[in-house]
Amino acid sequence: MTFTIFNGSPRYKKSNSQTLTEQFLKGYHNQGKTEPVKICYLARASQLAEHLEAFRQAEEVIIIFPLYTDCMPGMVKEFLELLPAAGNKNPKKLGFIVQSGFPEAIHSVYVERYLEKYARRRHYHYLGTVIKGGVESIRSMPPSMNKKLFKQFRELGDNFARTGQLPRELMQQMRTPLKMNAVGRTVFRVISLLGLPDMYWKKMLKKHGAYHLRSSRPYAP
Ligand SMILES: Cc1cc2nc3c(=O)[nH]c(=O)nc-3n(C[C@H](O)[C@H](O)[C@H](O)COP(=O)(O)O)c2cc1C
Repeated sequence: MTFTIFNGSPRYKKSNSQTLTEQFLKGYHNQGKTEPVKICYLARASQLAEHLEAFRQAEEVIIIFPLYTDCMPGMVKEFLELLPAAGNKNPKKLGFIVQSGFPEAIHSVYVERYLEKYARRRHYHYLGTVIKGGVESIRSMPPSMNKKLFKQFRELGDNFARTGQLPRELMQQMRTPLKMNAVGRTVFRVISLLGLPDMYWKKMLKKHGAYHLRSSRPYAP
């Protein structure tokens, strides 16, 4: 089976999608799978034709991307729109991993509906969508804090190598909390009043010289 992973993060190899893919592949190769897995980076827009060809040749495909404004980065949408529909004979296996900054999985449930419908309408063999929230924090956490998450991704890869499927039970565990409970919401309200959740993103804007653009409305009439 030719297995190809498409990374849909604009951050290319410095992305959380890359970190999670590496963990997935550790688990995958644990199962004695020696054939190399091709990884295509959609951020390399100039290689779009190669990416489309890699998709055509693959028998198993996983597309991993970050949730962007409750949906997907534009490059992922463009890629999906360019993919051909599968033939009826031996349809390609297609699965998705959507990972996001907010801890609540519910934010990704809407794009999941799209992905499922997309796969069905294009006659792919839909493997399901893994949803994982709270992922941006892995960049600032000490490795010990990421142990559980990385183990889950290794288990996904291990399972995929053994069965060719994404394990439902583990996927269900991973998409928690679906919504924060009352205590979580109260704590979040308090830290929001203190401006703590914004601090990280403001730091990023400053780092990239875009702080002065934070209230821009490029599509406003
Ligand atoms: C432009 C932009 C929009 C985002 N929109 C959301 C969002 O709607 N919901 C969410 O939970 N996280 C959102 N995030 C956070 C990313 O999903 C999160 O940081 C993810 O782990 C980034 O993965 P990557 O490093 O692979 O790109 C957004 C981040 C950016 C930069």
